[in-house]
Amino acid sequence: MNLDLLDKGFIPEEICLKLPDTFSDIEKLASELPKVLANEQIEKRVSQLEIEKNIDTLTTPQLERAMLVYSYIGHAFMWGKKNEVNMIPAQLAKTWHKISTKLERPPILSYASYALNNWKMLDSSESFDLENIVIEQNFLGGVDEDWFIMIHVAIEYEAKEILSALKKYFFESGNQSNLEDALKSMKKINQLMNRMPEKCDPFIYYNRVRPYIFGWKNNPTTPEGVVYEGVEEYENKPQIFRGETGAQSSIVPMLDALLGVTHSDDPLKEYLDEMRLYMPREHRDLLNALDSWSQTERSSVVESISIEDQNIIDETIKEVHIFRNKHLEYARVYIYEQSLTNDSNSNIVGTGGTPFMKYLDKHLQETVPSDD
Ligand code: HEM
Repeated sequence: MNLDLLDKGFIPEEICLKLPDTFSDIEKLASELPKVLANEQIEKRVSQLEIEKNIDTLTTPQLERAMLVYSYIGHAFMWGKKNEVNMIPAQLAKTWHKISTKLERPPILSYASYALNNWKMLDSSESFDLENIVIEQNFLGGVDEDWFIMIHVAIEYEAKEILSALKKYFFESGNQSNLEDALKSMKKINQLMNRMPEKCDPFIYYNRVRPYIFGWKNNPTTPEGVVYEGVEEYENKPQIFRGETGAQSSIVPMLDALLGVTHSDDPLKEYLDEMRLYMPREHRDLLNALDSWSQTERSSVVESISIEDQNIIDETIKEVHIFRNKHLEYARVYIYEQSLTNDSNSNIVGTGGTPFMKYLDKHLQETVPSDD
C-alpha cells in the first residue's frame, strides 16, 4: 500500500489556473459565468463554443483545470437554462466526457473540481491561511459562495497533518507524540468547521450556492437523467450521476478507517461507497486499501498499544464526533430549515441525492471508539 498521499494530503501539488490558448473560448465563458447566469444567457453562450477540443497533450493539472471549467459550465447550463430539455449540448458533452474518461471519474461537477483544484494563494509570499486563499471559479460569486468552498479547502489543507501523524503512528512504529499531533490537528479542523457561519449565510447558501451543485441522480427535475449529446459511448441514453458534495472528500472516510470507526449498512453508507467513484483515482485507491487494512490488520496492531495511546485515539474519535455533530447542525440549518421556509428548491435530499438528516445522525452516533 502506497501511503505517500497521507503526508501530502488531497490538495494537488500543482493547480493549473489557465488552459492553453486553444481553450480560450471556454476560459472566457468560465470567467464570465456569474454575469452570464445573471443575464440568463447560458444557452446562447454554450452554443457559440467550439464543438470539440483536442485534449491529447494536456498534462494532469491541465486536465483537472479542464474538468473544472467544463463541470462549472455544464452545471451552469443545466441549472441556468430556460428550456426544460435535459440534454447537455455536444459543445460541452463531447470534451467533458473525454476529460472524465482520462481522469476516471464521471462527467459531472465533483468535489475535486469544486474545492481541491479551485483556489490559489492571495499572497504567495505568505503562508497558507484561511484568509490568504481565493476561490478561482464561481457560479454566481459573492462572499457566501467563496467562504463555503474556502472552509472546505482550509480543512483539506489541515487534514494532511492528522493523516500524516496517524500514518506515522500506525505504519511507521511511531509514538505517542504522533497521536498527540493527530488530536491537535483534529481540533484545528473543528475550529475551521466552526467558522462556516461567519461568512456563509444559510439563506444565501440554500438559494444561491446550492442550486448549482446538484447532480442528476435521484433529482426530481431530471427523472430520467441527462443526455450527453454526441457522446457515442452513451448512445444518446440519459445518464444519471450524483452531484457535488463534501461526501466526496477522502478525509472523513480515511479517518474512520484509521481510527477504527465503522458504520453498519444503511443507504448513506451505500451512498458514501458510491461517492468513491467521484474521487480522484489515487484517493479512491488509497481509501479502499486503508479500508481493507482497517477490516483485517488493524485489530492486531491496536492489540498491543498502551492505555494512554488508546485514550488519545478515543479523544480523537470524540473530536470526529464533534465534527459530525457540527456538520449535522449545518445540514439542519443550511438545508432542512431553509426548505421549510422556502419552496423554491425544496427538494429535501442532499446535493448528492440522499435523505441526509436521518443518516448523517446515524453516522454521528456510530462515531465512537470500537470495542476491539
Ligand atoms: C454549510 C455546510 C455544509 C452543509 C450544509 C453540508 C451538507 C451535507 C449533506 C446534506 C450531506 C449528505 C450527503 C449528500 O447528500 O450530499 C453531506 C455529507 C458530507 N459532508 Fe457536508 N456539508 C457542509 C459542509 C461540509 C464540510 C466543510 C465538510 C468538510 C470536508 C463536509 C464533509 C462531508 C462529509 C465527509 C460527508 C459524508 C457524511 C459522513 O461521512 O458523515 N461537509 N454534507
